[in-house]
Amino acid sequence: MNNLLDQITALAKRRGFIYPTSEIYGGLTSSYDYGPLGVELLNNIKRLWWKEFITKRDDMVGLDSQIMLRPETWVASGHVTSFADPLVEDKVTNKRYRADHLIEAWLQQHQDIKDVVIENMSIDEMAEFLQTHAVKSPDGNDITRPKSFNLLFETHLGVVAGEKSTVYLRGETAQGIFSNFKNVLDSTRVKLPFGIGQIGKSFRNEITSGQFVFRTLEFEQGEIEYFFDPEGTDWEQLFKSWQDAMWHFVTSTLGINIENLRWRKHTDKERSHYSKDTYDLEYHFPFGWKELWGIAYRTDYDLKQHIQYSGVDLQYRDPVSGRTFVPHVIEPAVGINRLFLMALVDSFVEKEKRTVLQLKPQLAPKLVAVFPLVANKEELVAKAHSVYKLLKAHDLAVAWDERGNIGKRYLSQDEAGTPWCVTIDYDTLKDDTVTVRDRDTTKQDRIKITKLIDYFHSLFFE
Ligand code: GLY
Repeated sequence: MNNLLDQITALAKRRGFIYPTSEIYGGLTSSYDYGPLGVELLNNIKRLWWKEFITKRDDMVGLDSQIMLRPETWVASGHVTSFADPLVEDKVTNKRYRADHLIEAWLQQHQDIKDVVIENMSIDEMAEFLQTHAVKSPDGNDITRPKSFNLLFETHLGVVAGEKSTVYLRGETAQGIFSNFKNVLDSTRVKLPFGIGQIGKSFRNEITSGQFVFRTLEFEQGEIEYFFDPEGTDWEQLFKSWQDAMWHFVTSTLGINIENLRWRKHTDKERSHYSKDTYDLEYHFPFGWKELWGIAYRTDYDLKQHIQYSGVDLQYRDPVSGRTFVPHVIEPAVGINRLFLMALVDSFVEKEKRTVLQLKPQLAPKLVAVFPLVANKEELVAKAHSVYKLLKAHDLAVAWDERGNIGKRYLSQDEAGTPWCVTIDYDTLKDDTVTVRDRDTTKQDRIKITKLIDYFHSLFFE
């Protein structure tokens, strides 16, 4: 296997990071479940996001709104009309594809054609391009003319399907924030500028599959709506300060290589219907540079739309001047599952016949693994178990392994991304010391059991 994404997908399945959804029934398109190690990594990312953007800041509050909202929300937000991808169908197999993805793949085969900016193309322009260049489906068949395909998932409340009962699974968590803007103002002491953040599931009826957990039907977003007074605020400076905050989170908090990150400004034609300026923080995934985290200047678009559709006054009253106005918004919105995939890709290393996930300790599903040198010596196992319990009692994420030989256990923990392995051997029984082996250097330290907690804390919080 030489494709990095294939290797990571195989490791993720083998070690319990990610399983295909409904695998026993043949799988469900673009859907994945997070296994015992995966859920820990996912939770660590979410916990760090929440701490950095909500708990640590004085100008942010959190929220947890519902997946299903009143359907008018999505009419007001523009998603019912504008939240769509260009769909084409293979005329023989009836498989569906995104027109822009077919054009992207075609351009990769025809590198001499350089002046095409897919992001700027309208559906009609895509149709013309596909026709002019006789672009076929990946199976080599003719395709239909592209048409707009709405990404919102529809469902029905109650037992009778009909127009009145139609609701949508949210296409972004942001609308739950906008619709609670007045509630937050009325129930807390927030003053502009301030933000509301939430982490939650969103749903998109994606046409294309592949690229592992990069693009899935169901995914988690970490979204922030940062409200400010457009009068007297330099929005470009505020926008930049949020870009810096995003960059800090990815490079410093998650420890991602800066060479694999870049900013890309959206073109005028590409920007979402609600945005005046958008940048993507892109990561160099094995399948190319792709959006990790978007930041958009949504202006007062959403609050104004909700004022119009709900008839409720969502204006802010300045406590000093008494002036009332609709605040403007800057939105940093990240796909948590993309952060997850990035963490796997960025930490995956093969060296000296080892496959290692060099995750930052703060991200690692298990911080320490404890082994008795051999499994058939009762005193060693009992001593190792007491060390295991000691570490657990201090809230460290600890794994236990007594299978096979030490070398195999190290390799197994390297693949799981566990930064340190503690081995209890015959010397431990004499002097209460253990070996601590470092995942990245494979160097070993001999440490007194009474010093272990301080030792890990000093490495963990360095
Ligand atoms: N709220 C921005 C997005 O869903 O992409």
